[in-house]
Amino acid sequence: MLDQGTDDAFVAFERVQKSYDGETLVVKDLNLSMPKGEFLTMLGPSGSGKTTCLMMLAGFETATHGEIKLDGQPINNISPHKRGIGMVFQNYALFPHMTVAENLSFPLEVRKIGKSDREQKVKRALDMVQMGAFGGRRPAQLSGGQQQRIALARALVFEPELVLMDEPLGALDKQLREHMQFEITNLAHQLGITTVYVTHDQTEALTMSDRVAVFDDGRIQQLDAPDRLYEEPQNSFVAQFIGENNTLEGKVLEMTGSDRCVVQLDDGQKIEAKPVNVEKAGDRTRVSIRPERVEFNKDRMQEGALTLKAEVLEFIYMGDIFRTRLRVAGNDDFVIKTRNAPDQVRLTPGSQIEIGWMPEDCRALDAS
Ligand SMILES: Nc1ncnc2c1ncn2[C@@H]1O[C@H](COP(=O)(O)OP(=O)(O)OP(=O)(O)O)[C@@H](O)[C@H]1O
Ligand SMILES: [Mg+2]
Repeated sequence: MLDQGTDDAFVAFERVQKSYDGETLVVKDLNLSMPKGEFLTMLGPSGSGKTTCLMMLAGFETATHGEIKLDGQPINNISPHKRGIGMVFQNYALFPHMTVAENLSFPLEVRKIGKSDREQKVKRALDMVQMGAFGGRRPAQLSGGQQQRIALARALVFEPELVLMDEPLGALDKQLREHMQFEITNLAHQLGITTVYVTHDQTEALTMSDRVAVFDDGRIQQLDAPDRLYEEPQNSFVAQFIGENNTLEGKVLEMTGSDRCVVQLDDGQKIEAKPVNVEKAGDRTRVSIRPERVEFNKDRMQEGALTLKAEVLEFIYMGDIFRTRLRVAGNDDFVIKTRNAPDQVRLTPGSQIEIGWMPEDCRALDAS
């Protein structure tokens, strides 16, 4: 299905396929359109085609089928130096013979920006990545994380209209990573830069992006705003891939109205769920429930909650939250999360409890 409004999109992939060897498609029928200024993240397992999509958008690889457009024009028709694309790739190749400052100044010189302007922009970009004191060093005299930050600064220094970033923060520690996440999104929004960002880190994807495209097997499995992706996964892959998720296997007994169905779990118990991509009685399904939507405290259980019996297998203290592993309907990996509040109960392994959730929080997805 083509996205709406492809015509006035700033970036558009239209029915794009890519094969490197002429046999297997590593990108299959990709349709995506981004408005100007959007921050979109591609998230997905290794080998799912994310870098390939960036390379095609940058013009370094050509699509085997379909078309990629930038500002309404097929990318192939725009010469590389006119594309105005800033890039940070997985291997952050800096020019080894140039100093850090010269590396950053280079894209500005190419664009014929005057000396004093250049110096100012270089300084600002270096400060942004907390590398202000390193302008005189060469790349070989920097750590991996420092090189990565310089590569990032170089991609942003000329304030491009479109920035492509492939795992730009992979080599950084948690604190610096979080700082840079903030700096990147801030800058992108301030300057109205359109960004395509690739990461393996789902927290990063959820916190930074306007929309996230979840990739698997060369296809976008779901493209949505972070909250919708987490709360309304459209299939089992997305439910499992984004955040922590509990699944119970069974089959649909009956469709009861447009947004309810009855599922018989494999141990015989029946529960109500919201049918998402099951169609009819008899369909195998995997029911999905987020750990924080499960309640075991009777006083806090909402009216209309469904209940099931559970056995406590393990209690893990994690500081801010408690993570408790349960056996539910034959599943030994059913996890619930509770906030560490003064009145919160710490469940003891071996005890039998009753858990409950609202039927709308329980999604009947495909069993594949
Ligand atoms: N130049 C190439 N020649 C042949 N096959 C390639 C080439 N580049 C990538 N591939 C293959 O295409 C598929 C998609 O690779 P791609 O680099 O796009 O994945 P990715 O989603 O970026 O993965 P990762 O998260 O590991 O970086 C993989 O199976 C990979 O082996
Ligand atoms: Mg990659």
